[in-house]
Amino acid sequence: MSGIIGYIGKGEAFPVLLHGLNRFEFRGYDSVGTGTISNGEFEFHKHAGKLKDLKEKLGDNTPKGHIGIAHSRWATHGISNELNSHPHVSNSGKLAIVHKGIVENYASLKEKLVEEGYKFHTETDTEVLINWIEHIQKEGDLNLLEAIQVAMNQVVGAYSLIVIDKEENAMYAVRKGAQLVIGVDKDAYVVATDSAPLSTLTDEVIYMEEKDVYRLAHGEEIKVLNLDNITKTPIIEKLEEALETIEKDGYDHFMLKEIYEQPQMIIDSFRGRMNASEGWVRLGGVNEYRNKLNKAKRIIFGACGTSWHAALVGEYLIEELARIPVEVEYASEFRYRNPIIDGDDVFVAISQSGETADTIAAIELAKENQALIYGICNSVGSTISKMSHAGSYTHAGQEIGIASTKAFTTQVVILTLMALQLADYKGNLSKTQLNATLFELEQIPEKVRKILKLDDEIKAIAKEYHQANNFLFLGRGACYPIALEGALKLKEISYIHAEGYPAAEMKHGPIALIDENMPVVVVANNDSAYEKIVSNIQEVKARKGKVIAIVNEGDTVIKGIADHVIEIPATLEIFAPLVSVVPLQLLAYHIAVWRGADVDNPRNLTKSVTVE
Ligand code: F6R
Repeated sequence: MSGIIGYIGKGEAFPVLLHGLNRFEFRGYDSVGTGTISNGEFEFHKHAGKLKDLKEKLGDNTPKGHIGIAHSRWATHGISNELNSHPHVSNSGKLAIVHKGIVENYASLKEKLVEEGYKFHTETDTEVLINWIEHIQKEGDLNLLEAIQVAMNQVVGAYSLIVIDKEENAMYAVRKGAQLVIGVDKDAYVVATDSAPLSTLTDEVIYMEEKDVYRLAHGEEIKVLNLDNITKTPIIEKLEEALETIEKDGYDHFMLKEIYEQPQMIIDSFRGRMNASEGWVRLGGVNEYRNKLNKAKRIIFGACGTSWHAALVGEYLIEELARIPVEVEYASEFRYRNPIIDGDDVFVAISQSGETADTIAAIELAKENQALIYGICNSVGSTISKMSHAGSYTHAGQEIGIASTKAFTTQVVILTLMALQLADYKGNLSKTQLNATLFELEQIPEKVRKILKLDDEIKAIAKEYHQANNFLFLGRGACYPIALEGALKLKEISYIHAEGYPAAEMKHGPIALIDENMPVVVVANNDSAYEKIVSNIQEVKARKGKVIAIVNEGDTVIKGIADHVIEIPATLEIFAPLVSVVPLQLLAYHIAVWRGADVDNPRNLTKSVTVE
């Protein structure tokens, strides 16, 4: 989704803005724009397309100035073109803005502004926003900090924004539902959607709090006012995330690199949280709310997309091990229902980015109903991590590929640890069982490493099927969500229509689709449902479907029936999702590459969906 950045300081703004846009590139966007102030005048450059084209257009003619803002846009209101690209200016030409997120009541604000004589040149809600600020400032004869504070109280939506005034040596930033981080250096401030563009400048940051409005001016004290009109003191912290360089390290795509990083990321997400030989598992947040979680009437998971698939695995694990009832909700549906939820429930929000608008809204609803909020996020300091009463970071490192891979596996690791910890609190596992289970969990990174060695084999299978128009993915138990995830990965990056189903459901409808042109990917580990899944494979073969089966090493039964088998190491049934997803990620990846698709930047998708 969109990324915004602003610079004010002694140095030149433009190179910092370009660096920021470059770091945002992976988010998925359709246009870019910059605005700088030089000699009291704005200079804007916009381009509907890639950043490199904007750079080429400018050549050595880069704008000068010590204040500037920039934006990478993923269109919400108005098509992708230069006109709709940010920054946008107010009618007086004095104020400019970049904005990420959505203004829900923009139509009614626009109507009032039109009545006041304001003119609009674009289709964006952002142009409404900057004129609304200008209108409030003029009407109340306020300074810009006050005007923004008053205006934002009337603007409904989840967003963050940066405003500059060409007549003032200052920059204003607002966080309301979308993360903003300020890098603080002795000579400059940089405000950005996340900390990625700040790392080269400073390691001192301010993670802006929700509903804060900042005024930043070089050589002046930072002023902070929140939307309740309370003056606040900013808290400067050390940058929490170790920022890796955005390099492909020899891999053709970030997605492939991230698939290969999974063994290490799984280890990182275990670190300090369990010890097999000593037989303990401990997530700090779970420990902190131990009593509440132990007494929970129910756990509700709220998430979207791939994170929702992780939640389905979590449901299986927690019900199996901790014996606490679990419900899994699409955050986007939950927020618009009138769900039955109260203070005896625990709401677990899962989100890689920690910025997904629907998940944020679902948390707000659960919070209003007194539920304990537990956040499982990858992005440190993100909105969801800040809104949660307790939580666990997944420690997957920054995920650049739009299609989530390592973020998913580490979410499942956290859910596994959570389920084991709650089971331990409840006395559902003997010491010997816990030790043996944790010992097996420790083997997972090595097993994933072994699966990665099957890459060439999977690539060859992908070649054979890359021209298929449809795919079916089947799984059972904890691996049913893995079938969903395999189908989603394929859809996202190869644009092939794919469906995930619980294997036994196939005969209730999807079986009608099966013929010799239908590849069916079956997750068929040798677990409690093995015999059943063998029958499901027979049913597919009886209708001439092509079967690609993920089986355990040494399987002979399915080998004799399926068209292809991908043999992966066996593990406990509860850990099967962690290993079984990896061949499906590789299959989706290679199919997309054979089709010549833009794997890291698939069409229409964005890394964090901050609009509903
Ligand atoms: C798929 C994918 C999306 C996200 C979804 C939720 O590969 O990445 O489906 O999982 O948009 O995003 P987060 O986890 O950031 O809340």
